[in-house]
Amino acid sequence: MTSIDDFSEIETDLANLARLSSSGANEDVRLLVAKLVRKYRTLRPALAEQLDSTLKASRTRSHGPAVLRRSMAVSDSSAMPMDADSRQSLIRVFDDLDGISEPLLPDALFAHVQSLIRERRERDRLAAHGIRPTRSAILVGPPGVGKTLSARWIANQLGKPLWVLDLTTVMSSLLGKTGSNLRAVFDHAKQNQAVLLLDEIDAIAKRRSDESDVGELKRLVTAILQEVDAWPDSGLLLAATNHPELIDPALWRRFDAVLTFETPQGNVLATAVRRFLGADIALFEKWVDLLASSVYGMSLSDVERSINALRRYTVLENASPAHAVIEMAIKGLPSLDKSSRQKLAIELARLEALSHNKIMELTGVSRDTIRKYAGPSPIKGRGIKKKD
Ligand SMILES: Nc1ncnc2c1ncn2[C@@H]1O[C@H](COP(=O)(O)OP(=O)(O)O)[C@@H](O)[C@H]1O
Ligand SMILES: [Mg+2]
Repeated sequence: MTSIDDFSEIETDLANLARLSSSGANEDVRLLVAKLVRKYRTLRPALAEQLDSTLKASRTRSHGPAVLRRSMAVSDSSAMPMDADSRQSLIRVFDDLDGISEPLLPDALFAHVQSLIRERRERDRLAAHGIRPTRSAILVGPPGVGKTLSARWIANQLGKPLWVLDLTTVMSSLLGKTGSNLRAVFDHAKQNQAVLLLDEIDAIAKRRSDESDVGELKRLVTAILQEVDAWPDSGLLLAATNHPELIDPALWRRFDAVLTFETPQGNVLATAVRRFLGADIALFEKWVDLLASSVYGMSLSDVERSINALRRYTVLENASPAHAVIEMAIKGLPSLDKSSRQKLAIELARLEALSHNKIMELTGVSRDTIRKYAGPSPIKGRGIKKKD
């Protein structure tokens, strides 16, 4: 190694180390350091020795000698795969080590998610009967309903980080590399028995319109098909899409399970409103049903955004909770269907802060209907009752 090469090598190693440690993948960091110790032992003995003592110190604090044994066996799997040209990491890591709250899902879907976890945990028991666990699943549903969140939760329950290959952001790194980047990702995931999520997998199909890519796209799809087929029982392969209709049927067939996510309804919505209100739940307790009716039809990601906006508004404008809730309900009105509007109108009337006239004007629901369900109007006139 000449000194220039030497420097650029060290630069690359340093950059890798920084990226790994910022992703929080501690074991990967140790593996990389162990590799660097061997690499620099003859060329840079002082550096190697320093790295080695750091490594030993961290080892006694954590995992014991297993790390060393693994680091000897594994050759190049210490660093996360990256695109050789752009030096961009191909994988995004979600390491929810501090825990993560469980996704709010309808009972049947949540049970399905839990069965995936259980099969992994009891893989040995299944294997004793010659039964394989579900190796792969595709999560389908509109944006913002908890597909990525559920994948993170599954990984967390299995004590693993979630590795995400986001197809919308890495397409250009995958194309033009004759599948080598894709293989690097899968090989790395397999070696580490990872939970790997192929997010927004429909991105492949969307590229089809671009003529120049056709050959490369075909190769990429073929490479993915092969990788899904060859995926081992030891890891869990997940994919997510908002556009199931765009997925190549040959790819679709290869997934062991399909989990369908839907826009939340009923008690899931009210539970979500409560959760997103956080510490402010005491303040808004009696308006939870009203809030749930005013966000009907929204994804949970939008519900979360609206509730956060509500909480900010209440503090910054020094608004009474009732006033803030009404403001939010009025803003949400245009996107509600007729029966949700009626429900909202009745909830609004029960607040006894607006006249029935005003509620009719806002929601288009007749005063008779409002009176029928919420009793007579407490207020004459049209305005919002002033805070006292
Ligand atoms: N089912 C859910 N339970 C709890 N929070 C949710 C749920 N769905 C969405 N959210 C909130 O919205 C955010 C974005 O959801 P995400 O899982 O990325 O949606 P998707 O992958 O389906 O587009 C989550 O991080 C979470 O804060
Ligand atoms: Mg997502």
